Amino acid sequence: MEIKIKNLTKTYQTKQDAKKILHQVNLQVHHGEWVNIIGRSGSGKTTLLKCIAGLIPVDNLSTISLGPLEMQHATEEEKRDFRRNHIGFIFQEYELFPAYTAVQNVMLPELPYKNKEELSIRAKELLETLMLEHRIKAVPDQLSGGEKQRVAIARALLNNPGLLLCDEPTGNLDRDSRDQILHILKKCQAEGRTIVFVTHDLEILPYGDRVMSMNSGKLEEVDAEIVATNPFP
Ligand SMILES: Nc1ncnc2c1ncn2[C@@H]1O[C@H](COP(=O)(O)OP(=O)(O)OP(=O)(O)O)[C@@H](O)[C@H]1O
Ligand SMILES: [Mg+2]
Repeated sequence: MEIKIKNLTKTYQTKQDAKKILHQVNLQVHHGEWVNIIGRSGSGKTTLLKCIAGLIPVDNLSTISLGPLEMQHATEEEKRDFRRNHIGFIFQEYELFPAYTAVQNVMLPELPYKNKEELSIRAKELLETLMLEHRIKAVPDQLSGGEKQRVAIARALLNNPGLLLCDEPTGNLDRDSRDQILHILKKCQAEGRTIVFVTHDLEILPYGDRVMSMNSGKLEEVDAEIVATNPFP
């Protein structure tokens, strides 16, 4: 899925003040491309992913298109349907439902729409691929950070989405689990999915095709080799 972002500006309005977080961000990601995004904490990376997914409103004159969807003209319902069918979002904070087991959490977004048995089979397969087959009946409180992260990844992959928005999806994993996830995502890319991947882990950069750096809400392309030696100049 192709992503085209032009002049994206995002202001968070609070009771006290308005905070401009993204400044005139431009980004084009080609179908099947993997783009990494790095940047200091608080620079606006998660905000950018949420804008791409249409989860939060953007300022006037910002345009985001995802394949055929022009976000600025879409209704909330159209955005929600598009997200459900075409976007897998791996949240930095997992966003799992505490009352449900791992396998139920993976199935939940699709439960109102699809056959329960088929979903359950697919969810279990995904959890197995993510080395969690022994934890499918555990609720989030009984899972470690890395296990919760893998449940969140399984949920994002459930629908074979054309676009994967990954917000530090390997931040809590040991090296082996991280590499296993990266291989799964690489396979997703080989199948034609587009990936936007936020990370602090510079060892991940070679998996992607390009690196963008977010600096105080401004996004610019950087050379991966230079970043590897001097990440935050
Ligand atoms: N809902 C909100 N209302 C007001 N300010 C917000 C809101 N969400 C985030 N912010 C602020 O916007 C800025 C960017 O936040 P964001 O979560 O996008 O950063 P980030 O680059 O993802 O950081 P990290 O690497 O720590 O995850 C921060 O200063 C944050 O405090
Ligand atoms: Mg973040």
